[in-house]
Amino acid sequence: MDIQKIGVIGAGQMGNGIAHVMAQAGYDVLMTDISQQALDAALASVHKNMARQVSRGKMTEADMDAALKRIVTTLDLPDLGATDLVIEAATERETIKQAIFDDLQPHLQPHTILTSNTSSISITRLASRTDRPERFMGFHFMNPVPVMQLVELIRGIATDAETFASCKAVVDKLGKTSASAEDFPAFIVNRILMPMINEAVYTLYEGVGNVLSIDQSLKLGANHPMGPLELADFIGLDTCLAIMNVLHDGLADTKYRPCPLLTKYVEAGWLGRKTQRGFYDYRGDVPVPTR
Ligand SMILES: NC(=O)c1ccc[n+]([C@@H]2O[C@H](COP(=O)([O-])OP(=O)(O)OC[C@H]3O[C@@H](n4cnc5c(N)ncnc54)[C@H](O)[C@@H]3O)[C@@H](O)[C@H]2O)c1
Repeated sequence: MDIQKIGVIGAGQMGNGIAHVMAQAGYDVLMTDISQQALDAALASVHKNMARQVSRGKMTEADMDAALKRIVTTLDLPDLGATDLVIEAATERETIKQAIFDDLQPHLQPHTILTSNTSSISITRLASRTDRPERFMGFHFMNPVPVMQLVELIRGIATDAETFASCKAVVDKLGKTSASAEDFPAFIVNRILMPMINEAVYTLYEGVGNVLSIDQSLKLGANHPMGPLELADFIGLDTCLAIMNVLHDGLADTKYRPCPLLTKYVEAGWLGRKTQRGFYDYRGDVPVPTR
C-alpha cells in the first residue's frame, strides 16, 4: 500500500520525534493531542531538533523548512480519519488508548492502517476492539526517535502480511532498521531493559548503592552509554512503572514486581526529565542526584 499521510496521536516526547522523522522522510504528518500546549511544545521541539541537525550539516535549511511545513496539528481526533497510517503515541495507559481507537474508528477510511507505539500493551487486545484487527499492529520507536536506529514491528495475532509489509516499507524509507517481535508483554527491548532498570531501583531502594554509584557502575563496569537510573529519567518513570505493571500482570511472575521506590517517585510526580525531577533533579545547570 502506498502510504503518504501519517497521523500521530499524542504530541509528547515520542509523538514529536515520530512527526520529526516522518516529515523528514517526506510524509505529510497530522498530529493531534488533547492539549494545545502539548502540540505547540511538540512543534517547537521538532524545530529545535531539526535546527540542531542543520547546524551539524546533517540537513539543509531548505529541507528543514520543507519538513516543518509537512507537519500540521489539530485538536480534533476525527481529522486523522483522512490519513493512510495512524501511529498512536499517547500516554501508556490501556483505557486511554482504547478510548482513542473507539473515538477514531467511525472516521477512518477503509484502507487506513492503525498502529500503536505502546511499549508494552498487548497489540492483539488493542486490535480486537477495532473494526480492523488485520490492519492493526505495533509500531514501536525508541527514544529519542530521530537518533535511535531501531523500530520494533509487532504483529498481533490477526495482523495480515500486507499490513506488516506496508509498515516495514515505512521503516525502510525512514532509513531505520526494523526488528520483528511477537506480541507478548513488552516485546523484545523492554522485556529485557525494564527489569534491569527496575533492578537498579531495587539496588537503590535497598541501599546497595546510591544514584551516582549505580549509574557509574553500569557505565564503566558494563559499558552502557547511560546509567540505568539516568535512562529511567529519560524514558519517564511513569512509563517505566506502567511497563513493569504490564510485565507483572501479563506474565504473572513475581520477578517482575515493580520496586516500591519507583512507585513512590511516580506518586510524587517526579517522573524524570519531563517534570525536571526524577532520580536526578534537572532544575539547575547540572543534574543533581535526588538520593
Ligand atoms: N518514553 C519512551 O522512552 C518511550 C519509548 C518508546 C515508546 N513509548 C511509548 O510511547 C507512548 C507515549 O510516550 P511518551 O513518552 O511520548 O509520553 P508523554 O507523556 O511524553 O506524552 C504523552 C502525550 O499523550 C497525550 N495524550 C494523553 N491522552 C491523549 C488522548 N486521549 N488523545 C491524544 N493525546 C493524548 C498527552 O497530552 C501527552 O502529550 C507510550 O505508549 C509509551 O509507552 C515511550
